[in-house]
Amino acid sequence: MKKYNTVILGIESSCDDTSASVIADGLMLSNVIASQSVHEEYGGVVPELASRAHQQNIVPVVDAAIKRAGLKKEDLTAIAFTRGPGLLGSLLVGTSFAKGMALGLGIPLVDVNHLHGHVLSHFVKESAEQDVPEFPFLCLLISGGNSQLIWVKSPSDMEILGKTIDDAAGEAFDKCAKVMGLPYPGGPHIDRLAAEGNPNAFRFAKPHVPGLDYSFSGLKTSFLYTVRDGLKSDPDFIEKNKADLAASIQKAIIDTLIAKLDLAVKQTGARAVAIGGGVSANSGVRTAIEDFCTARKIRSWIPQRKFTTDNAAMVAIAGLMRYETGERCNIDLPPFARVEV
Ligand code: KG4
Repeated sequence: MKKYNTVILGIESSCDDTSASVIADGLMLSNVIASQSVHEEYGGVVPELASRAHQQNIVPVVDAAIKRAGLKKEDLTAIAFTRGPGLLGSLLVGTSFAKGMALGLGIPLVDVNHLHGHVLSHFVKESAEQDVPEFPFLCLLISGGNSQLIWVKSPSDMEILGKTIDDAAGEAFDKCAKVMGLPYPGGPHIDRLAAEGNPNAFRFAKPHVPGLDYSFSGLKTSFLYTVRDGLKSDPDFIEKNKADLAASIQKAIIDTLIAKLDLAVKQTGARAVAIGGGVSANSGVRTAIEDFCTARKIRSWIPQRKFTTDNAAMVAIAGLMRYETGERCNIDLPPFARVEV
């Protein structure tokens, strides 16, 4: 006799994390992630190396996810996979694997937009009592590749109200960290240093972009000039000011995010704000969002740190929501590298 009615296997391989997760009757039973350290020495993700690592990781990761869930592959109801956006070579590994497995088991296949996955990560439940957001809500999606303000009306109806016109918030963190000689990805290093620094020690030129769109490239240039000028008078400028530089750039990025969020809340009348994506792991961002929402008496949804980076649990939950509304993916649909929500 079957233990569960609906068991979804989620597969994520859009960038440099190979992940598989099992969600049964809405509860997460496993979420296995194999990260790739091979990219560290190159200062960024090398697409060809990422897809090779996915090839090595995909079978053991899927196997572990099913075993940790205490299930067998025959227990699966459907397979959900990230079809895009992301690195094509990486996406091809997860997509091909998901298709082959679904075909072999004779079960339905559901495709998931990676960005929808980040937004819907707030619906991943680890216990039956766990609270989830109500629609509609506003989501600030901030990662290494995207910065978007999304009005989330339903699991499948998401309107982009604003987005970055140049760099993403994560890129701004990473590029400024690089200027300071910090390892890639620099966001977590800035976060750690910022805790010790004075956020008002340095001021950077704030971007002026109309409406709800973001811009981060001017901030990065202003940071570069501050460091360059400082180094002219003191070769140890970075070393002496590391924490203050980190705290100041983090504050500038957060102020930029919050200013647009404020406009979006006023425009939509949102009663809840969620954040998602790699940058939502930032301590300063998390506190700023909580304070912002408390001051306006609206609900904040801050994901657990394990759900801020790429993971298959968010793919499985987004897949489950699509499965329940009858969405299915044709076996001949290819992955896609670029698209917005
Ligand atoms: O969503 P994500 O894992 O994948 C991409 O879209 O690439 O986001 C990665 C980004 C990187 O730019 C990384 O520096 C940033 O998230 N990030 C952080 C923190 N943790 C990760 N940025 C600031 N503070 C953090 N704690």
